[in-house]
Amino acid sequence: MATSKDYGLGEFQFPRGWFMIAGAGEVTSTPTPMRYFGQDLVAYRGESGTAYVVEAYCPHMGAHLAKNTTSYIVRDNEQVQGESIRCPFHGWRFGPDGACNEVPYSKFVPKAAALKTFPVIERAGIIWMWHDPEGLEPEWDLPDFGNHYGEPGWVEWKIDYMGDLNCHGIEIVDNMADFGHFVPIHGAKDFTYFANEFTDHIVHQYYSAGHRTLTASEGDQLVLDTWYEGPGFLQSEMAGEYDSFIMIANTPIDDGITRAWHALMVNVNDGSKPITDGERELAAAYQEASRAAFAQDVEIWQNKRACLNPLAIPNDGPYGKVRTWYRQFYNPRDQAPTIRQRSNGLVVTHDTRPGSQAA
Ligand code: FES
Ligand SMILES: [Fe+2]
Repeated sequence: MATSKDYGLGEFQFPRGWFMIAGAGEVTSTPTPMRYFGQDLVAYRGESGTAYVVEAYCPHMGAHLAKNTTSYIVRDNEQVQGESIRCPFHGWRFGPDGACNEVPYSKFVPKAAALKTFPVIERAGIIWMWHDPEGLEPEWDLPDFGNHYGEPGWVEWKIDYMGDLNCHGIEIVDNMADFGHFVPIHGAKDFTYFANEFTDHIVHQYYSAGHRTLTASEGDQLVLDTWYEGPGFLQSEMAGEYDSFIMIANTPIDDGITRAWHALMVNVNDGSKPITDGERELAAAYQEASRAAFAQDVEIWQNKRACLNPLAIPNDGPYGKVRTWYRQFYNPRDQAPTIRQRSNGLVVTHDTRPGSQAA
C-alpha cells in the first residue's frame, strides 16, 4: 500500500473535496458507523429526515456514538431526538452543530463539549460529504449531476459498490489521461479523438472512438465527455441510441485504501409518458454493461503494485498533468492557484478527425 506521502502529493494525507460516503438508503435514524479519511465517523438522520455526519467519539469520555446495542438509550430508542444525537454511555446529547445541548444529570454543560461535524448534502440518491484538511467551508458547489436525476424520461441509477481497494485514489484518477488502456481494457477501436482539458478544480476527458460491442453498427462512434470536479468523483455524459450519465466515486478510507462505487442513469424516453417496465429493464442492462466495463479497471487496480512514477511515453496521455492537477487538493487552499497554473489548458493526445492535422 502506498500513501499520499509516497506519491509526493503534498502537505495533507487526505484531499479537499466533495466525496460520496453512502447511498441514501444506508443512512437512517439509527446512527451508522463509518470510516473515511482515516477517521471514525457516524452518520444519522434527524427526525426531519436530514442526514448528518459527526465524529464517532464522544468528547465526554470517548464512547463510540454508533457502536452500541445494549445501552438503555439504544434499547429505548433515544439515540436520535429531533436533529440531535445522544451518546449511549452517559446520555450527553449533541445538536447538528455539534454542540452538547443536554447533559441529563447536570445543568452545567461545558463549552468544550462539542463533536466535530462535516458539511453533508443528499443529492441524486447519494450522501455527499465535504472533506477539508483545513476545516474550511466548501470551496466549490456539489454539482447537479447533469440535472437528470428524477427528471421525466430518466431512469434513476442504483448504486454499485465496487469494493475497498488497496490502491490510492491517484491511480484511479490517472485513468482520465490513460489513452492506452481503452483498447485492451474497454474494447475501444478506431479512435478519432482523445484530449484532456484542465480548468482549475475540473479536468475533462473528451473521447470519440468506436467500440467492439457497445455501438449498434460498424463505424458508429461512442462520444463521451467525462470529468472530475475535485478529486472524489467522475461524471460522464454519454451520447448514443439512449443518452446516459455515469458517476464513479472514489473515497479514501485510510491513506492508500479507497472505496469505489459506480452508478448510471439512462434517458429512456422524451418524458411525455411514464417509464415502462421494459424501459426499466433496458436501463438496468445499460447500467450493468457500464458497471462491467468499470470492473475491468477495478480488477487492474486491485492487483497492481503502486505506480509512484509512471514510465510514461508521449502517446500515453498527460499523466504528469493529471498528477499535478491532483496535488492542488493535498495542499493548502492558498497554494491551489499556483498548482492550477501548471496544469490548466488543453492537451490533445489523439486527433484523426476529418480535417485535423493528423488525419
Ligand atoms: S462518553 Fe458520551 S456521554 Fe459520557
Ligand atoms: Fe478505464
